Amino acid sequence: PPDIPLANVKAHLTQFQSIANANGGTRAHGRPGYLASANYVRGLLDAAGYTTTLQSFTYNGATGYNVIADWPGGDPNDVLMVGAHLDSVTAGPGINDNGSGSAAILETALEVSRQALQPVKHLRFAWWGAEELGLRGSQFYVNNLPAAERARIKGYLNFDMVGSPNAGYFIYDGDNSDGTGAGPGPAGSAQIERTIQDYFTSIGVPTRGTDFDGRSDYGPFIAVGIPAGGTFTGAEGIKSAAQATLWGGTSGQAFDVCYHRACDTTANINDTALDRNADAIAYAVWTIATAVPPV
Ligand code: PHE
Ligand code: ZN
Ligand code: ZN
Ligand code: ZN
Ligand code: CA
Repeated sequence: PPDIPLANVKAHLTQFQSIANANGGTRAHGRPGYLASANYVRGLLDAAGYTTTLQSFTYNGATGYNVIADWPGGDPNDVLMVGAHLDSVTAGPGINDNGSGSAAILETALEVSRQALQPVKHLRFAWWGAEELGLRGSQFYVNNLPAAERARIKGYLNFDMVGSPNAGYFIYDGDNSDGTGAGPGPAGSAQIERTIQDYFTSIGVPTRGTDFDGRSDYGPFIAVGIPAGGTFTGAEGIKSAAQATLWGGTSGQAFDVCYHRACDTTANINDTALDRNADAIAYAVWTIATAVPPV
């Protein structure tokens, strides 16, 4: 699997910041900064050879958009999806939440193109609208999938907040190995968790589980039985002393003090966390999408 260039991921964050600055400081659903963000992502994917769709929906009297990008080839009956929400809250530009996940999966998609990857699975990337208003874009996508099309999706990887300034290294707890919180994900989620875990083990970074508590766009996928996984570096939760010992950073302080605030700018990013998570995404995509399924 490739090493995703951090500078490229950060260049996308700079573009999201510029888009917000030019549009009243936000990239929220229904605001011009949202559509500008979608057009930015879509333009790069089109140029890289993806087949893209701008799927529109209505929520709260405003039009929202999902950007869906299919990489040509692979088994159409064995689809791996990779998604991140592209909208911010109205209060700010949403650079960690969720420019970070949006930029990291974008650069992974562009790396697929640069390498002319020919995966066994069919790869589909998605940038969701209106997550901040209740997972509206991802829910609309899943609700409107024909049953046969839904059955082809064998896995969904979600990335929401992967550059938190006081970062933790969380992986969605597909097997509910800690036995607490939400139950396990659909069968197959545990394997996704292990694959992501393998990457962090290889770079010597300890991780912890985070529950499928329904707070991000994997929700509509697991609700229909699609295995899911992904990473998360923390939001408004407070880093404990034990977590600061494990990962460094500041105990007694939120993983992201600028969560849902105007200060969620390009200054609100932990480069090390963003770099490790972008590489983890690429590792998971390459490992899962190029694996030959058992006969
Ligand atoms: N989905 C939340 C948001 O966008 C953040 C979050 C992600 C919380 C993952 C918990 C787990 O605000
Ligand atoms: Zn948010
Ligand atoms: Zn988010
Ligand atoms: Zn687990
Ligand atoms: Ca758990």
